[in-house]
Amino acid sequence: MKILRTVDELTRHCEALRASGLSLGLVPTMGALHAGHLSLVKEALAGNDSVVVSLFVNPTQFNNAADLQTYPRTEEADFRLLEQAGAQAVFAPSVEEIYPDGDRQPDHVFDLGEVAEVMEGAMRPGHFQGVAQIVSKLMRMTQPDHAYFGEKDFQQIAVIRRMVATEGINVEIVDCPIIREDDGLALSSRNVRLSKEQRATAPGIYAALADSVVRSSEMSVEEVHDMVVNRINALPECEVEYFSIVDAETLRPVNSWNEAKRVQGCITVFCGPVRLIDNICYRK
Ligand code: PAJ
Repeated sequence: MKILRTVDELTRHCEALRASGLSLGLVPTMGALHAGHLSLVKEALAGNDSVVVSLFVNPTQFNNAADLQTYPRTEEADFRLLEQAGAQAVFAPSVEEIYPDGDRQPDHVFDLGEVAEVMEGAMRPGHFQGVAQIVSKLMRMTQPDHAYFGEKDFQQIAVIRRMVATEGINVEIVDCPIIREDDGLALSSRNVRLSKEQRATAPGIYAALADSVVRSSEMSVEEVHDMVVNRINALPECEVEYFSIVDAETLRPVNSWNEAKRVQGCITVFCGPVRLIDNICYRK
């Protein structure tokens, strides 16, 4: 597996692939890899001749300095996992390599539309501008045929689809399903920050979501909303930040189950100091 540190190395690697007529899959990550990330790599390997995984903790998408500082960094272990998974190349640049002007703010304002304004967009000002900034840069540098994203970050996929359309980037976005622990907790790099007690209660989030899907056939959207929020707030150390039941395409809240082709419930929960996100499909 090639370890690429500079933009120049990355672009040369990708140009050589294109010149040989090989297709390329891009898997953007912030490292601290787990089986969720590796499922994207596996999907990318199945759909392309060659795969580049990026490992970059992107400062411009963090709206909280403490979160950026405590974000887990496990580069050596990540390289080993990627090598085992069969990735042909990893791009792991420094912050200076990506933002040479030291200017870590988005250099232009992306038109991300209403999908970026709600939920995470409302709670984390500037977050999606930072995501659009780094993902568009990575796409321009690599010019992949496909780029892979997890449904764990359901809204992020909608924002990236919009960014790709408005920026005119020619790439196919591939959505990959959420990978969970056996007890239902969605895998996340932030899970390592949970205490033993918090780790024991956190699966209650998915349990409440999954149960609400079963019960949704005899309940209104509002009833399901309140049931999920009350159930999770009753878990020790857990507090729901938001739970939105939305049209999966527009991310607008729905009032009834048949208002949209696909209805998704998107939730953020503070489990102690750790912010966990998850989502579930109600209707498809
Ligand atoms: P990161 O949180 O490292 O996630 C990288 C990719 O892995 C994202 O597409 C995310 O949705 C996916 N992923 C994370 N946990 C998953 C799980 N349990 N199951 C399936 N997929 C999962 O998302 C980012 O990084 C950044 O915002 C990034 C897109 C790399 C831009 O900096």
